[in-house]
Amino acid sequence: MYKCKTFMLATLLVLGSASIAQKKVIATKKTIDQRVDSVMKLMTLEEKIGQLNQYSSKDEVTGPMSDNGSRKQQLVAGKVGSMLNVRGAERTRKVQEQAMQSRLRIPLLFGQDVIHGYKTTFPIPLAEVASWDMQAIEMGSRIAAIEGAAAGLHWTFAPMVDISRDPRWGRVMEGAGEDTYLGSMVAKARVKGFQGTNTGKLDEMLACAKHFAAYGAAAGGRDYNSVDVSERTLWEVYLPPFKAAVDAGAATFMNSFNDINGVPATGNKYLQRDILKEKWGFKGFVVSDWGSISEMVDHGYVKDKKDAALSALSAGSDMDMEGQAYLPHLATLVKEGKVPVALIDDAVKRILRKKFELGLFDDPFRFSNEAREQQQLNNPQHRIAAREMAEKSIVLMKNEKNILPLSKNIKKLAIIGPLAKSEEDMLGFWNVAWPDNSDVVTQYEGLQNKLGNNTELLYAQGCGITDTSRAGFAEAIAAALQAEVVIVSVGEARDMSGEANSRANIHLPGVQEELLKAIHATGKPIVVLINAGRPLVFNWTADNVPAILYTWWLGSEAGNAIANVLLGDYNPGGKLPMTFPRGEGQIPIHYNYLNTGRPSPDNDTHARYRSGYIDMVKSPKYAFGHGLSYTTFTYSNLQMSKPTLAANDSIIVQFTLTNSGKVAGEEVAQLYLRDEVASVVRPVKELKDFTKLMLQPGESRTIRFVINKEKLSFYNQQLEWAAEPGTFQLMIGSASNDIRLQSKFELQ
Ligand code: GLC
Repeated sequence: MYKCKTFMLATLLVLGSASIAQKKVIATKKTIDQRVDSVMKLMTLEEKIGQLNQYSSKDEVTGPMSDNGSRKQQLVAGKVGSMLNVRGAERTRKVQEQAMQSRLRIPLLFGQDVIHGYKTTFPIPLAEVASWDMQAIEMGSRIAAIEGAAAGLHWTFAPMVDISRDPRWGRVMEGAGEDTYLGSMVAKARVKGFQGTNTGKLDEMLACAKHFAAYGAAAGGRDYNSVDVSERTLWEVYLPPFKAAVDAGAATFMNSFNDINGVPATGNKYLQRDILKEKWGFKGFVVSDWGSISEMVDHGYVKDKKDAALSALSAGSDMDMEGQAYLPHLATLVKEGKVPVALIDDAVKRILRKKFELGLFDDPFRFSNEAREQQQLNNPQHRIAAREMAEKSIVLMKNEKNILPLSKNIKKLAIIGPLAKSEEDMLGFWNVAWPDNSDVVTQYEGLQNKLGNNTELLYAQGCGITDTSRAGFAEAIAAALQAEVVIVSVGEARDMSGEANSRANIHLPGVQEELLKAIHATGKPIVVLINAGRPLVFNWTADNVPAILYTWWLGSEAGNAIANVLLGDYNPGGKLPMTFPRGEGQIPIHYNYLNTGRPSPDNDTHARYRSGYIDMVKSPKYAFGHGLSYTTFTYSNLQMSKPTLAANDSIIVQFTLTNSGKVAGEEVAQLYLRDEVASVVRPVKELKDFTKLMLQPGESRTIRFVINKEKLSFYNQQLEWAAEPGTFQLMIGSASNDIRLQSKFELQ
């Protein structure tokens, strides 16, 4: 009876205060902070700690699961502030109803990894970045948010903004590649895409910049492994995309599993409080990555989960995702005087603020609307956008004798390989939100859709992705012999990249290269499609096959996009966001390296006493920024507004870009700079600007870049962000290893 009375009284109090509050809202337009404070005043310590606790559903799990009792009982008891992996208008409504039975009826936040689409799957993020098209990238995230929000979700655990120089690390598929400037631009585009106006509209989701920080520098490319970076490298390479996310208004952050120089990110006060919350003024909240709080015990950083809770909360981790450390231990830590209530209050306020901003206190079910869900999840415009993004993401690696584009009058075309008819693989990793693959357009179907009955389309699988059977080779060779041109679609499986999918060997798996050699031996013209979530090593193919398209994992519209490129209805313009090594031995490999005191030539293994290898040239197989087109572009007429830059001035650099070929095409013109002499040695080149534009055949356009002191600045020996007077090299080109125009200027 007592409990019931308490419940009723409390409910009346809240409802009463709510109705009073509503009147007041009308009268005084209480600010969100005032509304947060009014709820905080009603909360017990246990209820506050409940807000810091996040559980996953048990049927869609994205991490190691341990049983932690009945979710429903804990939801009703107000012990859960957020759920992840609960999706769908109907399902989120049901789970929210359980939370609404709690004493204070504080609504749940529903989070999900809507990384590159919800139902309409877009290309994997690394592929999207190959488009170098920030508007398209923003649109992809916008549509993901429209669909995710329509499915009752409030919060996506994206964008992942981890810079990485190591293709062995499976999560490169989820990020923006190796370059900090490009990665920062992408972080901004994705946050804006997911959050839209960031005013809690029904087609917007809270973004979550992750994984804070330097997760992409895991030693050996092994996921979750230790990270040892200098303070300067942390600030110069890994932090800027996170700062870009803060500047773009990212609502939340997620910390990372790794330790940084021995201190786990989750318990890292310097990262989460000193930098993120103090220096950068971040007002959102930080969620742990799955269990990362409790994993500090495994790290050997704390002795038990209670210690982990103390360390993580003190360091600025506001919400405990599946760590089961906060709920059982924080109240005790407060009572023992080890955790000030103020720290808990700060974390709770950060979380409640987002719930108010989403309008969930006014209507906890506002995102859970089945009619809107059905409408948005079947929006044909989304498929068109996904196809256009997929087309932009394709990189033309090689096109000897202009074998591509294929003629539409081709009579017999063969498509061979283990990925030619695959549906699920086209979705890539993190398509967890939509297991239904039936709406994927396979590569075979894309060609069928395009060619219709005009062309006989032959198919043979040839071999598996990882198995070593050659039993299918004969059938594949027979199909090839009948065809005028042979397309061979090879690569990884979708779940060979992504989380916990690091590879020590990033060659084509199984016997796929043997299959390629067998098809090559027929003498037929070959076009190879390489499907992967990372840069792969495929030297024989690169050296012997005349035409290669890197098709990553392109999502729901993969087949249609690839067919459009193969048959010339879309002229590929993608550029690599990561360096492609000749072998794992070159890793870590990236374009913006330091020159050393003994620089070695790019392609000579015999330069003695030089910083190279004796068994492999230093240069990559394909460089950062590489990507060809069905047309050609010339760069000319470089001009600079002045040869010397005064400290607070700027130099206008302009040049002419011409489409010197026969078909329209898009080019990404890239600006690289080099500081020749500085108090800290500087990279041989750094991307500082780029522009992507479409040019008609014969068309010329004047392009301008602005160079100011900011573009010349770096962290000096005192870790101050500064530019130093001296000579700078200016390089403009079509790739980091394809510089077309060069000049120099002085900073005074
Ligand atoms: C995973 C990932 C993280 C993801 C989270 C929830 O372990 O590291 O990126 O958002 O758990 O699925």
